Amino acid sequence: MNDSFAPTSQVKFFSGEQIPLELHKVRIVQKLHLRPVEERHQAMETAGYNTFLLHTKDLFLDMLTDSGTNAMSDQQLGSMMVADDAYAGSASFTRMQEAIKDVFGMTHVLPVHQGRAAENIISKTFIKPGDVIPMNYHFTTTKAHIDINGGKILEIFTDEALKIKSSHPFKGNMDLNKLEAAIAEFGPAHIPYVRMEASTNLIGGQPFSMQNLRDVRAITRKHGIMLVLDVSLVGENAWLIKQREAEFKNTSIKDILLEFCGLSDLLYFSSRKVSSTRGGAIATNRLDLFNKMKDLVPLYEGFLTYGGMSVREIEAMAVGLRETVDDTVISQSPSFIRYLVDDLDASGVPVVTPAGGLGAHVDARGFLPHIPQSEYPAGALAAAFYIASGSRGMERGTISSVRDENGNDVLADMELMRLAMPRRVFTLSQVKYVADRLKWLYANRHLVGGLKFVEEPKVLRFFLGRLAPVNDWPSKLVAQFRKDFGESL
Ligand code: F0G
Repeated sequence: MNDSFAPTSQVKFFSGEQIPLELHKVRIVQKLHLRPVEERHQAMETAGYNTFLLHTKDLFLDMLTDSGTNAMSDQQLGSMMVADDAYAGSASFTRMQEAIKDVFGMTHVLPVHQGRAAENIISKTFIKPGDVIPMNYHFTTTKAHIDINGGKILEIFTDEALKIKSSHPFKGNMDLNKLEAAIAEFGPAHIPYVRMEASTNLIGGQPFSMQNLRDVRAITRKHGIMLVLDVSLVGENAWLIKQREAEFKNTSIKDILLEFCGLSDLLYFSSRKVSSTRGGAIATNRLDLFNKMKDLVPLYEGFLTYGGMSVREIEAMAVGLRETVDDTVISQSPSFIRYLVDDLDASGVPVVTPAGGLGAHVDARGFLPHIPQSEYPAGALAAAFYIASGSRGMERGTISSVRDENGNDVLADMELMRLAMPRRVFTLSQVKYVADRLKWLYANRHLVGGLKFVEEPKVLRFFLGRLAPVNDWPSKLVAQFRKDFGESL
């Protein structure tokens, strides 16, 4: 695999050091808060050991997500000033449509307020009770919308997908034989569509290859099944195709995206990710599909030319989508992720390899082997990492899963702490700080204990659930921090 820090590494350092160099300048800044470790412990306690419930005033580096937290360019901010506030027929929407046509090659566009709103409309339109939806891997909101409409997800990943340590370039690939077998078992009539998620979020931001998508397309076409792409993280997937799939070494991101998206019948995205704005959309070249969905947009979102979004965001989305095809823009986050993952890996911290397109994913089972899955090792790691660093990641393990009909936890395939890398937000010294605190935590991992629920919502419990440590391990961690770091924050 040759995905070094290109193009940011095309600048050679006299020292020979290989680092991703920022090819942008920072013109608006926001003050951060790095509290003393005792206050971080208190803030974690107040937040019920759930990093979703922390507040910005208590956060240093916010790596919870890359959703809606990316830096906008000067061009994007400038475009917001020319937004057209018309309720119907807004010129801003026309510009967004043109950008989607140019970047994704799709003509018919339905605007929605964010990615899960697209999932609501697609699920409501195409799924009937008893249907099965094969996909390379689920995303939390995707699964919830499919479930609520009576469908069932069927994850068809390859044997590589769930391996923590791997050198496979495309762990997000779908297993073609298993897809054929699933179609044979359930029958095309019960499979409204096959879904492929670019830079597969929950397994570590892992991409799939263009060849895999071509093959999936061929199979779905043979059986007359629709192919739906979740392109929320498509820029990074395209970048990793360019880096890792020999055929595309010299292909532009623009051309990769056009072929990639052109293989689908329908695509949707959260523009909180793909264009560094907020909002989302569904797009297709098939008028029949567009017509089936379009009445739901005014019902759930807003008129067909704004879909619940501010027109300023729509303008910025159009610009942001076009900027996605710029190598220096789209490579920044994967290069920083690669830097962090390689550093952690070289230091023996268990982390998902190869680096993907969303963030660094630390393997909580490898990190905290003494914590059983029933005590939520990924949640415990996220809590301990906040106490150690003032920075937050997100639990992506059993807390993000559900309970079965008997009330037992459905144990997650992987217990990960995700450290998302918002696009062009952090500097390399901040990334180095993250690596440093994680290495310290790994050296002191025996001090970290498990968590238990004290308040547990029935749906998407990871967002608002409150937990408590199983004993006083956080106090011991704070004491060790003081011993090792003295007066340091
Ligand atoms: N699809 C994927 C692949 C996503 O990563 C997300 C959101 C959605 C759909 C839903 O989009 O949030 O705009 O409604 N992912 C966020 C994350 C929440 O933190 O990874 P949304």
